[in-house]
This record gives sequence, structure tokens and C-alpha cells, in this order.
Amino acid sequence: MAEISIEKKSVENADFVFLDSGTGGLPYMLHLKEKRPDAFCVYVADTRNFPYGQKSAAEITASAQAAVKLVLRYFNPAALVIGCNTISVTALEQLRASFPSLHFVGTVPAIKQAAAVTKNKRIGLLATQRTVDEPYTADLARQFAPDCTLIKRADPALIYFIEHDFFTASETDKKAAVKPAVDFFSAQGADTIILGCTHFLHLSDVIEKAAGKDVRVVDSKEGVVNQALRLVPEPSAACDSLCKTEHRYEDCTFFVTGPDDIDESPYKILAEKLNIPYGGILRETEKAL
Ligand code: DGL
Repeated sequence: MAEISIEKKSVENADFVFLDSGTGGLPYMLHLKEKRPDAFCVYVADTRNFPYGQKSAAEITASAQAAVKLVLRYFNPAALVIGCNTISVTALEQLRASFPSLHFVGTVPAIKQAAAVTKNKRIGLLATQRTVDEPYTADLARQFAPDCTLIKRADPALIYFIEHDFFTASETDKKAAVKPAVDFFSAQGADTIILGCTHFLHLSDVIEKAAGKDVRVVDSKEGVVNQALRLVPEPSAACDSLCKTEHRYEDCTFFVTGPDDIDESPYKILAEKLNIPYGGILRETEKAL
């Protein structure tokens, strides 16, 4: 795969840029900030291309390459954390080939962890359609859970709910949203559920509660964050103009990629709730701020 050339403007150094199709990677970034409060993190939700999980592998690769190129137009990250299982299982190899000087951290379903905790060897994988279908996922299962049955479920409706409605939803709405998935795995006798799409981490407590105490719910957050911190052990970037809000320099900022007519209000509410400054739309042609 050919190396992609980047038109470098005035880019801003960052310790970590997190990239997902939407809000899914935020719990990963927040976890990293808990462990390394001094790290300067930027979050980019490629909302222009959401959802990735319903696209073909070729479309995901093309969208992810364009999103990384856009990120690099604005930021120079010490590490780029792909907070998205769909991109990671489908396109990470191509991304590494296209951007050879960039340090990537991928996010893949926590199959190894599930295999370590399951008692009945029946593991549920809750993910996107693409992650469920990708041969990479089957390879992970063969490698790390050869003696287990992997019960897969793609749940685009739940992902849509989390991206668009979750942050204003009631507890009753949240319970109703996770119920089909939890019931599905229960009917299949799974004693472990892998949150194989980063969006689901926003609802891990609701899923855990609905699944009951005999079911373990696992995710990749700890492993991904630890890998990022191994790659960049000494965060050193400082926030520059792009991430400066009206009031102060912030040490993490949340951007979306559009489309131009995107309703930004839910993202602003979310950013406010999570106490992350909202940075606006990153565009290919002009500075966001
Ligand atoms: N959050 C993403 C993942 O981990 C995908 C959501 C989507 O765009 O479909 O796979």
C-alpha cells in the first residue's frame, strides 16, 4: 500500500489522538486521563463516516485513511489510538503501511480476556457487523479461545442509540436498548460477554446489571490504555492554539468531522457532561477554530 503524503500546516503536538467513528473511544481516552492526568489528548469522532460497522472492508479502509490524514493535518500525535474495533480489525495493517512514521495503538475484541474468565466456554461477542464478519476476528478466536464457542451478535441499533440518544436517555431507555443483546446471549448460554465495539463501554454498567451476576462482561480498555502508555511513557506535548478555549488552555479536546450540516448540539452536551471541551468540526480545507 502506498505511503500517503500529508500537507503539513501548522500542526499541534499531542501526546495521544484518539480516533473512532463517533463517541465510542471516549471511555478509553478518559481511562488514559485517569492514569496519566498530565497527558495532552485529542479526541476525533469521524462522524462524517459514522457508522463504520455497516461498511465494506474497502470502504472502512478508505474512510479510516482519510480520517487519519485529516487528523495529521491538524495534529502531530506521539501515538494515534484507534479507539474502534471495526477500524482495527479491518484496516490497521493498511493504516500502518500508509503512515509508516506514525505510532498506532489498535483496539480489538477482548477474546483472550474472555477465554481466561469463562467457565462454560461459551463466549458472547457483541460488536459491529464488520467486526463480527472480519476474518481477523475469527483468527483471534482461533488463537486465544480455541476451546470456546464464540457466539457473535452485531447490534447496529444499539450503536446508533449510543451515538445519538444515549447521553440524553433515561435509565429505562438504556435498559430497553441493551435488552435484546443481553437476552440473545442469555438464550445462547453465554457466561461471558465481550464488549467488542467501543461504543458499548458507555453502557457497560447497564449491560452488566441486565446480564446478572453470573455473567462476566469484559472489554479491552485496560489493555489498550496500557499499550498506549507503554508507547508514550513520558507525555510531553503542551496544548497550543487549536485547543485553546475561551477560558483556558485545555489538556484534551473533542472534535467531530462533520458533515457540514451536522447537529452539533448532542456532542456539545456530551462534551459538557464528560467535562471535555468541545472543539467543533475538523475540516479538510480550513482550520476548525
Ligand atoms: N465504535 C466502533 C467500534 O469499536 C464502531 C461503531 C460504528 O461506527 O459502527 O467498532
